[in-house]
Amino acid sequence: MHVLVTGGAGYIGSHTVLALLAAGHRVTVVDDFSNAKPAVVGRLEELSGQHVPVHAFDLAEADKLAALFAQEGFEAVVHFAGFKAVGESVAQPLGYYRNNLGGTLSLLTAMQGAGVRRIVFSSSATVYGPDAPVPMTEDLPTSATNPYGWTKVMIEQVLRDLAVADPTWRIALLRYFNPVGAHPSGRIGEDPADVPNNLMPFVAQVAVGRRERLSVFGDDYDTVDGTGVRDYIHVEDLAAGHLAALEWISGHDRALSTWNLGTGRGTSVLELVAAFERASSRPVPYDVVARRPGDIAASYADPSLAEAELGWRAARSVDDMCTDTWRWQSANPEGYPG
Ligand code: WQD
Repeated sequence: MHVLVTGGAGYIGSHTVLALLAAGHRVTVVDDFSNAKPAVVGRLEELSGQHVPVHAFDLAEADKLAALFAQEGFEAVVHFAGFKAVGESVAQPLGYYRNNLGGTLSLLTAMQGAGVRRIVFSSSATVYGPDAPVPMTEDLPTSATNPYGWTKVMIEQVLRDLAVADPTWRIALLRYFNPVGAHPSGRIGEDPADVPNNLMPFVAQVAVGRRERLSVFGDDYDTVDGTGVRDYIHVEDLAAGHLAALEWISGHDRALSTWNLGTGRGTSVLELVAAFERASSRPVPYDVVARRPGDIAASYADPSLAEAELGWRAARSVDDMCTDTWRWQSANPEGYPG
C-alpha cells in the first residue's frame, strides 16, 4: 500500500517508516520538522536503500495537504505528527491544542475529501489518567491531567465519533506505553531537542558524558525499590505493532479498534539505570530528588488484546532496549547532525 506517515521524521515515525518499507509498502512522509532534524531522511534512505519522499509542511496547511492527497493516491495514513512534552503542554496549551487536535482535524478532513479512510493513530497510555489500575486494559475510562494528555483523549474521541458517523472508516488507536530503544544499526534513534524529559534519553546522555548526573524523581513510591515503574517498549517492537495494526484494519470490517502496545512488564527507574550500566559499561551516577508533579507510581499494560487479535507481542527485553540505545547514543553523542 502507499502509506502517508505524518511525523515520519520523528523518533517513532522514522522507525515505523523503515518497518513499512521493509514490509514492501510505499511511504511518503509529511513532517514540519518542528521536532526532527532533516538528517533523519538521509539515514532512512541509507538504511532502506530506497528514496523516501518527504514534504515539509504543517498539517494545518490544508491546501498543501489536499494537493498531496490528490496527487499521491494514498491508501492509508499512519499519524504520528504532534507535540508530546507534558510540561511544555501545561505552559503552552493553545499551541498543543492547535497543533495536535487542529492538525488531526485538518488531516481527517483531507482524508475524507480524498476518500482515504484507513488511519493508524499514535495514541498513548497517558489517556488512562492518573488513577488507572495496573495492568491497564483498553476498556478503562480515559482522562488526562495535562493538555498533552487531553489532546490524545480528544483525538481518540473524534475518531470514535467519526467511526460511528461513517462506519466505512478503518481506525486503529494504538496506546503506547514507554517507547525507548533504537534501530539496531545505531543510525537512527531518539534525539530530544532540549534537555530530555524522559528517563531513557537522559540516562543515555549521562552515560555518554553529555550530562553529569541523573535526578531520580522520588524513591518513596509503593514499588519494588521505591522508584517509578513503567512498561518500557522497544521502538522496533512498536514499529512492528503499527504494521500489524495497519494490516489488521485493512482486512477486517471493524470501524474502530483500540490496542495497547506494551510488554506487560514493569521496570523501575533504578532497574533501568542498572540495565543501562550493564549495556554501556559506563557509570550512570544519580541523586534521588523530590517526586516530579503528576508522576504515578506504576504504569504497565495488559497487552493480551493486541496479542490475541493482531498476533503481535513485544519481543525485545529491557537489556535489548539499553544495548540498542547505547549503540545509537555512543555513535551519535550529539544526536543527528545539524
Ligand atoms: C519514566 C520514569 C519518572 C526522568 C511520559 C509521558 C507520557 C509518554 C511517555 C508520550 C518516571 C522517572 C524520568 C528523569 C526520573 N509520552 N524519571 N528522572 O512520565 O512515564 O511518560 O513519556 O506519550 O505521556 O508522560 O516517562 O520517561 O518521563 O519517566 O526519575 O530525569 O522515570 O519519575 O517514574 P513517563 P518518563
